[in-house]
Amino acid sequence: MKRILVTGGDGQVGQAMKALGSISETELVFPTRQDFDLSDAEKMRSMLFSNVWHCVINLAAYTAVDKAEDNTSEAFLINRDGPAKLAQLTANLGIPLVHVSTDYVFSGDLDRPYIETDVTGPINVYGLSKEAGEREVRTHNPNHAIIRASWVVSPYRSNFIKTMIRLSANQSVLRVVSDQIGAPTSARELAAALVHITTELISSKDAQRGTFHFCNSGYVSWADIAGHIMEILTEYGRPASRIERISTSEYPTPARRPKNSCLNTQAISEAFHINPKDGRDAVRLIVSEIIQGEFQ
Ligand SMILES: NC(=O)c1ccc[n+]([C@@H]2O[C@H](COP(=O)([O-])OP(=O)(O)OC[C@H]3O[C@@H](n4cnc5c(N)ncnc54)[C@H](OP(=O)(O)O)[C@@H]3O)[C@@H](O)[C@H]2O)c1
Repeated sequence: MKRILVTGGDGQVGQAMKALGSISETELVFPTRQDFDLSDAEKMRSMLFSNVWHCVINLAAYTAVDKAEDNTSEAFLINRDGPAKLAQLTANLGIPLVHVSTDYVFSGDLDRPYIETDVTGPINVYGLSKEAGEREVRTHNPNHAIIRASWVVSPYRSNFIKTMIRLSANQSVLRVVSDQIGAPTSARELAAALVHITTELISSKDAQRGTFHFCNSGYVSWADIAGHIMEILTEYGRPASRIERISTSEYPTPARRPKNSCLNTQAISEAFHINPKDGRDAVRLIVSEIIQGEFQ
């Protein structure tokens, strides 16, 4: 039996990973934030050294993109210093670290989907802190996989799909940005990919280490996704809003967002035979699950 410690189990990807159910010969252990706090090195050390672990998957992060602009030190504490410590501890134990990162490490200025080796250049504090976290993981534990995702969506916690469904209940028009392009990432599919990669790293020294991109297929704007959500709501006989396409400049936020969030996923397909599904199907599944009230 392989034992894997997973941080951030109450987050979107964490809840999706819990919902994957049992995995053969593998036990996923999800300590609470209180028991395994990324800002508490001693707590992490004590839990990692008092048990047998075969890998750590780090899903925990400071993810409040706009708040990070004012909370720089907290963002860096959790997104840089936490992964740095985790990388040191897992290296000491001789086990792999699977770490999740983001498209926000890029500026978004490129005119094609980003590949793993493209130069980073974050344009907000959250992106800077995640970029710094990646660097720490690479420095301290070569036995790692860093998986960059974009626009995570799920039936859990708060995300774009849930916001659109909530607002459409009583607003006839929703103004949504149409000049940021990327792809949704189903938390469930990301969770499954992470578990698959983890088992490969545990079982094979030849499995590729390094940085990989994962998101669903089909590049779209936020407004495109919103329009698709509204179509699905209409099919279900639910109230739906008209989507007014606006530019980023018409929707100012504290943190700047990349215009191009597209991630090229060829490398993860080649290294791990992971082929992300169509983003429209992923969005449809999540909307229907939310409507059917399976998740809160
Ligand atoms: N959300 C996105 O659109 C997106 C896009 C690209 C990449 N990512 C990356 O994907 C990963 C998972 O994101 P997510 O959407 O699942 O995030 P999430 O829903 O915000 O969950 C993050 C989890 O981390 C926990 N956490 C925060 N600070 C912690 C600390 N000091 N110690 C231990 N746990 C802590 C949170 O605890 P609480 O439950 O107490 O809040 C929460 O359970 C992150 O690395 C994120 O950067 C996310």
